[in-house]
Amino acid sequence: MARILVKGPTPLRGKIKASGAKNACLPILAASILAKGRVLLKRVPNISDVHTMLGILQGMGVKAEWKGREELELDTSSVITTAPEELVRQMNASFDVAGPLLACYGEANISLPGGCRLGPRPVDLHLMGFKKLGASVTSEHGVVHARAKKLVGARITFPKVSVGATKNCLMASVLAEGTTVLENCAKEPEIVDLANFLVAMGAKVSGQGTSKLTVEGVSELHGVEYSVLPDRIEAGTFLIGAAMTGGEVTVEDCKPEDISALISVLREAGQQVDVGEDYVTVKAVRPIQPVEVATAPHPGFPTDMHPQMVAMLGLADGASLLNETIFSGRFMYAMELVRLGAQLRVSDRQVFIRGVQQYSGAPVDAPDLRAGAALILAGMAAEGETLISGIHFIDRGYQDLEERLRSLGADIVRLEKPVPARS
Ligand code: UD1
Repeated sequence: MARILVKGPTPLRGKIKASGAKNACLPILAASILAKGRVLLKRVPNISDVHTMLGILQGMGVKAEWKGREELELDTSSVITTAPEELVRQMNASFDVAGPLLACYGEANISLPGGCRLGPRPVDLHLMGFKKLGASVTSEHGVVHARAKKLVGARITFPKVSVGATKNCLMASVLAEGTTVLENCAKEPEIVDLANFLVAMGAKVSGQGTSKLTVEGVSELHGVEYSVLPDRIEAGTFLIGAAMTGGEVTVEDCKPEDISALISVLREAGQQVDVGEDYVTVKAVRPIQPVEVATAPHPGFPTDMHPQMVAMLGLADGASLLNETIFSGRFMYAMELVRLGAQLRVSDRQVFIRGVQQYSGAPVDAPDLRAGAALILAGMAAEGETLISGIHFIDRGYQDLEERLRSLGADIVRLEKPVPARS
């Protein structure tokens, strides 16, 4: 198993361009199934989750060809409605293909998804929406079968805000007969990007970025060229890295309005943040001030920046608190940060953080994607060597991470050869 070796402390300094957003690109790839014609996607991040989604689509007959490092052409003219189980189970977002398959072919057979180990990841709300649109849904041996002769527009009110259910029901409804109203929707920028992509293909969607989406069904969608939204979580990870390593980083080609909750927290923590039209600069100001943060659906503080924020607050001048309101199991990173010297106590869904002056390098294991990013940030701030395993999680969501961190001054390498396991 490959590992990442970080030697610290090194301040991150310089400029970096944001990649395309993983969480926008994955549903957009799935939604390409809906197009009658060629889809050319730009700013596609070269990360393993994108390759997994491509594998799923190719397993269903989609033809995909890279036209450049971040440009991908898709031909979805011939598709089968059963998704390859082994790949589906690798990634929670693979369930995104269900809505487009149902819309386009009146049938979807897809096993219940896997994904990061953040706690239960049910899909009951997705299925509730499919049923409201007129589908029959059964599940046996871990595989969901959804069928409908013709989906018909409906009013779907989600009892809980869900990114996954909002995007799947949106994709399912674009070809349905009549009007669909989705209420209590997630408002994440990635859902806005998906809706914009569907509109660019000829769908009629209104209410993007609000909790109510209205869809007028159309009979078919056409091919399109589309550029994926910049990744706000990746941008936020670099900016938190600047603050906690005592550096100064500008993330270019990003959408500052998508990370306003993070910008507020960084300012409250005493950091200098300059915001332009399409860039954000964070300049570290020591000491980091302690803050209280609660994760929440957008526009609140994103759960996907929770571990990175805790890694930063672990170096604050005093006691901080982070309350996780979305995923009950997002705390496996805490013991790994403790190995680096962080003083953390997890109770129920809260992390109590007593700031320390310095982390010290140690072997650690990334338990999931964003936790892995937090450990890399902590390793760059730590004195000595931090050896990180479990990096296949990090590869799911960060494009060329070591190269880009090196360009900002980090001392970070990937060790491809096995190294002795920690005792
Ligand atoms: C997406 C993101 C993930 C992010 C999360 C919250 C992708 C690929 N993943 O995940 O990175 O952390 O949004 O911003 O975009 N729930 C149910 N029933 C359902 C669906 C969800 O109870 O049918 C619950 C979940 O268990 C969770 C909460 O709702 O507690 C939020 O989940 P959801 O917003 O759906 O997250 P994901 O789409 O899985």
